[in-house]
Amino acid sequence: MILLAIETSCDETAVSIVKRARGKNVRFEVLSHKVLSQIDIHKEYGGVFPALAKREHARVLTQLIAECLEEADLLVERTNEFHLPNATRKKLDTMLEREPEMLRAMKVLFEGIQKPGIDAIAVTSGPGLEPALWVGINGAMAISHVWNIPLYPINHMEGHIVASTLNLNEGIYEMPEIELPVCALLISGGHTEIVKMNKWRSYKVIGKTRDDAVGEAFDKAARMLGLPYPGGPEISRLAELARKESLVVNEDLRLPRPMLHSGDLSFSCSGLKTAVLTRVKKYEPLEENIKKMLALEFENSIADVLVAKVKQAMYETRSKTLIVGGGVSANSHIRFVLKDLADKEGFNLYLPDKSLSTDNGLMIAAAGLLHLACQDKPKVKIKAGGSWSIEDC
Ligand code: KG4
Ligand code: ZN
Repeated sequence: MILLAIETSCDETAVSIVKRARGKNVRFEVLSHKVLSQIDIHKEYGGVFPALAKREHARVLTQLIAECLEEADLLVERTNEFHLPNATRKKLDTMLEREPEMLRAMKVLFEGIQKPGIDAIAVTSGPGLEPALWVGINGAMAISHVWNIPLYPINHMEGHIVASTLNLNEGIYEMPEIELPVCALLISGGHTEIVKMNKWRSYKVIGKTRDDAVGEAFDKAARMLGLPYPGGPEISRLAELARKESLVVNEDLRLPRPMLHSGDLSFSCSGLKTAVLTRVKKYEPLEENIKKMLALEFENSIADVLVAKVKQAMYETRSKTLIVGGGVSANSHIRFVLKDLADKEGFNLYLPDKSLSTDNGLMIAAAGLLHLACQDKPKVKIKAGGSWSIEDC
């Protein structure tokens, strides 16, 4: 069983091809795994520009799929001349009407190679930037139609959860047996959520942000400090320097811990963002040490709130396991404080391998295998759901 996965929800075009291994359902070997980041394109805008993201995905996706097929040893060029039947061409013209460049590239691919040995396709269908999501979805629907391969829509946040559980042993990724109920802390550029699971593929959001997501707050705070996009790793780098140098934060640079004592599982980052801005204005132009102190305070504030909310969620749901997913789970300090909490409270903790923290295709492939294991039905028509909740996936 070989599965092709496509992810285009934000600013990474990612494709993975995996082969299911013997034994457990979500147990696989990676045949190919490629991520093309658009960071350099969006950097000058200080954040992701949806129309540009869409254009770039459409420009590179077909080529990336072809490269992955080749790496997976699944690309066999035709020796004879072959033309798609007229009906198929017409169908493709409608399907890829909005991506003319991709339409041309896909026709060349379909006419130039033999049908590869792919048994299923998984594609991110939301949440994310709709124009960007559509590129992946339309590409996946076109492949599914022309080569007659079943297609599975995947929720991006579910992908993050599944990816965080994966163990890698002798070249095989495997989702272990996990003690239920489970809480998942999802911290990314678009989401801050705590999700409860009593069983796999059944998710309940029990806490979320009222405004900005944690990753978004990192990116915005970084911008205020004059740091490049994406800001998360930059803030983290400065905060680490501040810790190494044992910088003591000036009293008037201290930042609030929003919603720390709200009593519920809600988050809010907009007040924290404003607090950074007022301090930046006061100290402009910012000296390097002031930047480091603000980065440290910012990261500590986020970490304090995450720890408090997770602790409460684990207690209220009597969960035995915490899974942490999303780009911000790459943050070393947040990883450290969550490990510390897990040790103290005695729960199991799953953190993603750092290489799988930010968006990639493997997370969608792994979630796709989970759908197959749960005998989900494939879909012919998929829509992009910019704010598709994990509860409805
Ligand atoms: O999951 P992801 O790759 O994309 C979304 O689904 O949104 O998450 C991207 C977010 C960005 O906001 C980025 O700044 C943040 O993850 N991020 C980090 C770190 N690495 C990435 N935030 C804090 N510390 C990091 N080391
Ligand atoms: Zn993500």
